[in-house]
Amino acid sequence: MAVALRTNLGKLVLQNPVMVASGTFGYGQEYARLIDVNRLGAIITKSITLKPRAGNPPPRIWETAAGMLNAIGLQNVGVEAFIREKMPFLRSLKGPKILVNLAGESVAEYVELARRLDGVEGIDGFELNISCPNCDRGGMEFGVDPALTRQVVRRVRRVTTRFLMPKLSPNVTDIVAIAKAAVDGGADALSLINTIVAMAVDARRRTPRISTVKGGLSGPAIKPIALRMVWQVSRALPQVPLVGLGGIMTATDAAEFLLCGARAVQVGTASYVDPTTSVRIVDELAAYAAQQKVKQVSRLVGALQS
Ligand SMILES: Cc1cc2nc3c(=O)[nH]c(=O)nc-3n(C[C@H](O)[C@H](O)[C@H](O)COP(=O)(O)O)c2cc1C
Repeated sequence: MAVALRTNLGKLVLQNPVMVASGTFGYGQEYARLIDVNRLGAIITKSITLKPRAGNPPPRIWETAAGMLNAIGLQNVGVEAFIREKMPFLRSLKGPKILVNLAGESVAEYVELARRLDGVEGIDGFELNISCPNCDRGGMEFGVDPALTRQVVRRVRRVTTRFLMPKLSPNVTDIVAIAKAAVDGGADALSLINTIVAMAVDARRRTPRISTVKGGLSGPAIKPIALRMVWQVSRALPQVPLVGLGGIMTATDAAEFLLCGARAVQVGTASYVDPTTSVRIVDELAAYAAQQKVKQVSRLVGALQS
């Protein structure tokens, strides 16, 4: 059975619901040697900041049971080098939408980034990283407070008409309150979740496993939390397009997020395990839909029987 994979996040139409998550796919070009990146629904860039950042000192990655702890600290080339050196490749792609992930230490920085990138050809929208757990200033601060979330989204909304998708932090008690604030600020869609603040210890040396002590946990270990949050937000805000992520390794994992109400998904840590995971999920999602006798993958969205 032929299955239609097209989906939309409101005004943003995707050829399929499989995106690659920020920080796990570089700027796209690195993976183009390994997979056909034109087959992806969307590419989300590493978080971009106004100035280049070297990130945190090593060690900044540690493998945990069913997951990965990272404290990269938003290492990136900075907005000007991004436009000059990374956009020409991204702009040349025909299939995937290009979403640039923005990170700032202040509201003014997010606004300046959006303003600077708004006129750049080839960018389909922005994912606002208001949920990075690995920065001293900014980042997660915005995403754990409804008033700050509303403020940063509203201020960015004023300087761009492009698709705008805040990325929510799971490090909160009430994810629905943050989601509502982001929508109130003018979000077109929401992505969730970023990593969960966590730590790992070397008992022999009596030291933390990573230099910053705390980091962000990703991978299969966090999938049940991510599913719960997507489900909660989709029930509270059924009209808002959601993008689900956290621990997706297979098409079945991706389908679970769609059933909980996500219209699209992102593949993150899994690309480190096997760089072909994202494109494999595109094919396997179609097979899953056919098995379920569903002709359009979008019909799976929110189809959880509960
Ligand atoms: C090494 C690494 C770097 C990351 N860098 C970013 C980043 O720059 N910006 C961002 O919004 N999320 C970043 N993330 C979070 C992922 O995009 C994603 O939200 C998270 O890892 C959960 O998905 P997963 O379990 O599929 O990896 C990073 C994750 C990892 C593992």
